[in-house]
Amino acid sequence: MAKDLVIRIGGEGGEGVISTGDMLAQASARAGLEVLTFRTFPAEIKGGYAMYQLRVSPEKVLSQGDTFHVFVAFNGEAYEMNRGLLIPGTVLVYDGPGGDFEPEPMEGVIQYPIPMTKISKIELVNPISKNMVALGAVMQLFSFPIDSLKELIGAKFKKKGENVVEMNIKALEAGAAYVRSNIKKTDRFYVQTAQPREDVIMVSGNEAVGLGALVAGCRFFSCYPITPATDIANWLSRHLPKANGVVVQAEDEIASLGQVIGASFAGAKAMTGTSGPGLDLMLELLGFASMAEIPIVIADVQRGGPSTGLPTKSEQSDLFLAARGGHGDFPRIVLAAATIEDCFYLTVEAFNLAERYQIPVILLSDGALAFRTEKIKRPDLSKIRIINRELYSGNGEFQRYAVTETGISPMSIPGQAGGRYIASGLEHSETAAPKYSPDYHTLMTEKRFKKLANIEEEFPEPECEGGREGDIGIISWGLTQCAVREAIRNCADDGLSVKALYPKLLFPVPVKAIRRFASTVKKVIIPELNYQGQFAELVAAHAGIDSIRFNLYGGLPFTPDQIRKKIKEVL
Ligand code: COA
Repeated sequence: MAKDLVIRIGGEGGEGVISTGDMLAQASARAGLEVLTFRTFPAEIKGGYAMYQLRVSPEKVLSQGDTFHVFVAFNGEAYEMNRGLLIPGTVLVYDGPGGDFEPEPMEGVIQYPIPMTKISKIELVNPISKNMVALGAVMQLFSFPIDSLKELIGAKFKKKGENVVEMNIKALEAGAAYVRSNIKKTDRFYVQTAQPREDVIMVSGNEAVGLGALVAGCRFFSCYPITPATDIANWLSRHLPKANGVVVQAEDEIASLGQVIGASFAGAKAMTGTSGPGLDLMLELLGFASMAEIPIVIADVQRGGPSTGLPTKSEQSDLFLAARGGHGDFPRIVLAAATIEDCFYLTVEAFNLAERYQIPVILLSDGALAFRTEKIKRPDLSKIRIINRELYSGNGEFQRYAVTETGISPMSIPGQAGGRYIASGLEHSETAAPKYSPDYHTLMTEKRFKKLANIEEEFPEPECEGGREGDIGIISWGLTQCAVREAIRNCADDGLSVKALYPKLLFPVPVKAIRRFASTVKKVIIPELNYQGQFAELVAAHAGIDSIRFNLYGGLPFTPDQIRKKIKEVL
């Protein structure tokens, strides 16, 4: 029996694919299993192909995996999209007879027809419950715990009415009963149970960013809704008010960042969440925040671009924008989360850096990570370091932009005696008075950049995996790190000599760590989900390291197998 089980559910947006996957994921987590999910859905509210993949295992899983063991097809389109992945040993559970397609026989592929449409539409007279019929069948086939699924149905549909809950439980039971009476199980897949642990929480990437903001002390969040970032606001709007915080939906992204800057100027830790198109709009104010030295955090949940692009798909193509976007010379920090844990801890770190250096910090996530749910160890809040901005003590003459050795000068809070100053986008003197002389522009530009002179030493060193030396060294960022981790473990099993570097600080580029790493390997590969090789370009420009670029730009994350094949090709 396989240690981990990957189930993929495919159907039409609006058929409840996502709800079905979420319930299986939660039932697995409650059964003590490690869970990692991956979903991709259309930009339309109804119609188009929606997919949910669930990987469960008694042991920690690193990525969504290469492919699935079981595919549950709600309709013919989903079947067509996945037909090529149905290889000997896999299982197809499909809507039939009575569905909109009939699969062809495939050698070695076990097929279980479940009349999902027929049961829901004709027997239960409730077509919307088709997904719960499928859920009941899957539960029975692969031994998911029924009681917890019933509870989850109750929790999910309670707000739609008791009759909706009852109808869905009936559908769940009908699906399970159909399997018991009509299907002879011939595959080898079961969910195994493990000892449930108390010290874990199950969250999505976006929820983890919200949680990190709350823990870091964020008390003001403003955004304009945009897929795939909106869930950060949804989560914070439920939880920030409990900590006396405020969540605002602004009229657009420019207004939202303006409000965030205003709130931070007034002394509150403040943040916005957006995606590429929104970050485009924010650029002028990004420069303003850096010029006026106001700490802000922007979570940029990347999606496929350019323009409106692929709203619900993944890409790592906002890096140039985050690191280089904007007019004039100004410092900013760019971090990138690779895991759900990163989404939490790096959000805290983003606030710490913004407060310490009084600059904008952009945290990059992406669509796949934003919607991924995973079990993570419950953060120990007592061990989390929180940094607050250096404040004017109230003694002596206040010079907001005093030139100091570190470039950091204390801030005042509006209304503070002796702390008056004007924060504007104009170049200024130490006292914040407008000043355009060559000497002052030179002095102040250097002051602003000096703050980051030692950022690489002050930020935790990037993790390095593998031996002292290797034939191949992979440098990856963001979600791609998950596929790389799994790939290089598989490579170690194959006896290949591969190392990996996992930077979380992307800009300023951690030049010393990258050069050190590159000196221990014969060739460097940089895999990225973008066409231009954006990090590879920054690494070449800043660290002088040329790499072999491996770029995908189809809107889907790397799989471990794609990385492993590239390593073998290069070797
Ligand atoms: N009984 C009753 N209601 C059910 C049900 C059942 N058995 N199964 C699902 N539903 C409801 C869900 O509760 C949900 O309703 P809600 O919106 O009130 O919560 C709805 O049906 C959709 O089901 P869900 O499982 O959440 O999604 P899906 O798999 O059908 O896919 C989406 C639909 C989520 C992909 C699609 O609606 C969507 O939101 N697309 C993205 C839009 C977007 O972001 N575009 C980008 C714009 S820039």
